[in-house]
Amino acid sequence: MSLQNHNVASIARVYRGTFVHSTREVALNILNDFVLGVDSRGKIAFIQEGGNVDSLSQEWGFDTSDVQNLGQHEFFMPGMVDTHIHASQYTYTGTALDLPLLQWLETYTFPVESRFQDLDFARDVYTKVVKRTLRNGTTTACYFATIHTDASLLLGQIADDLGQRALVGKVCMDHNQMVPHYKEHLSESKDETLRFIHELLQKEYPHVKPVVTPRFAVTCSSSLLQALGEIARNYDLHIQSHISENKEEVEVVKQLFPDCGSYTDVYLRHGLLTHKTVMAHGCHLSDEELMVFHKSGASISHCPSSNISLMSGMLNVRKVLDHNVKLGLGTDVAGGYSPSMLDAVRRAMDNSKALTMRDARVQPLTFEEAFRLATLGGSEALSLDDQTGNFEVGKDFDALRVNVGVPGGPVDVFPGDDPKVILEKFLNLGEIPWRYHIFLHYIWIIYHTQFNTFLA
Ligand code: GUN
Ligand code: FE
Repeated sequence: MSLQNHNVASIARVYRGTFVHSTREVALNILNDFVLGVDSRGKIAFIQEGGNVDSLSQEWGFDTSDVQNLGQHEFFMPGMVDTHIHASQYTYTGTALDLPLLQWLETYTFPVESRFQDLDFARDVYTKVVKRTLRNGTTTACYFATIHTDASLLLGQIADDLGQRALVGKVCMDHNQMVPHYKEHLSESKDETLRFIHELLQKEYPHVKPVVTPRFAVTCSSSLLQALGEIARNYDLHIQSHISENKEEVEVVKQLFPDCGSYTDVYLRHGLLTHKTVMAHGCHLSDEELMVFHKSGASISHCPSSNISLMSGMLNVRKVLDHNVKLGLGTDVAGGYSPSMLDAVRRAMDNSKALTMRDARVQPLTFEEAFRLATLGGSEALSLDDQTGNFEVGKDFDALRVNVGVPGGPVDVFPGDDPKVILEKFLNLGEIPWRYHIFLHYIWIIYHTQFNTFLA
């Protein structure tokens, strides 16, 4: 492609067609016949009505013959954001769904996670999970690794190598009554967290950053929580953990932290609720606790597949949204059995409707709202919405190019199906593509067979 330089940043690619995304104001904004330019740094330089293409070509110095036109049943949507996934649990995804949380951790999770001091094992698992989530359209993931620093660093390297935006957490836990050998000493947990942060930041990966990760209050001493809160503040880092997932867990936390007024209060007092905090689950949070979330700017990762599989509870997303708490979706692999964010969208819809069946006053999620949670909502929940989540000028072009009109694909399109219908069909019926194409931070989801560039 012969494109001229522009005085700000040169335009590397220009697309014309349908773009669907969420904005702060509307859950679904459909832009029919728009033209979008991506600059040489992968950022969105402009997005305007297609009729402006001639003046844009003059302003930005590209040739209109280089514009790539999308087909009739194609559209671009933002890459999806998985706000909570355990990369280290990928080996047993799709199995081991027969126990509630604490027994599940003891029986399946801790024995598997303790194997990640073996870097060959870690490399195999982490490569597979990053490839798998990318192939499912997850351009941004917030990962739990394990307590092992070197394996966690390797996960960061793999995400960078394969082109996925990621927050990577070396897990911290200095208290484990269930599987006593899978834990760290307090000083080791602090020291290794600092080593992890320093070494990962030193790599200067553009899209991969560390996230401070106390596993949850059940497996962390007060001293460790305090230290991690201080580390996050000193380095201005993201924080992730679990909260109020299962009623038995909530009871255990009450006994472990009798001086704290609630589970939320435990994290608040230890400096772990900030505008860069994401807490998974939150099924059993009270209104007062949600108000604390709102005030602190902390967010919730809604993990509906896991909540049902581990019989943990059902998060009332309407209540969370009504409290103006930032909310995203998570697969919570392997508590959730699917690494696909499309599955998370569908489970979120089902979960919400099931709550409405129980109480008709609960307004169910619309598919537009579920779409927003998987994209812009997720980027807000991770405080990455200045970089990704929708197609605003200045953000990175993290995008899925979807074509639902391909023979043999999972979606049938009929005359009169407009882009909104096509998006809804894709969200409900779309499957893992057998070809995908990545360059920079940008993914095509393609049902075509004519493309032969793919990451196997
Ligand atoms: N709470 C603490 N650790 C975990 C975990 O690995 N998965 C889930 N779902 N909940 C947790
Ligand atoms: Fe989890």
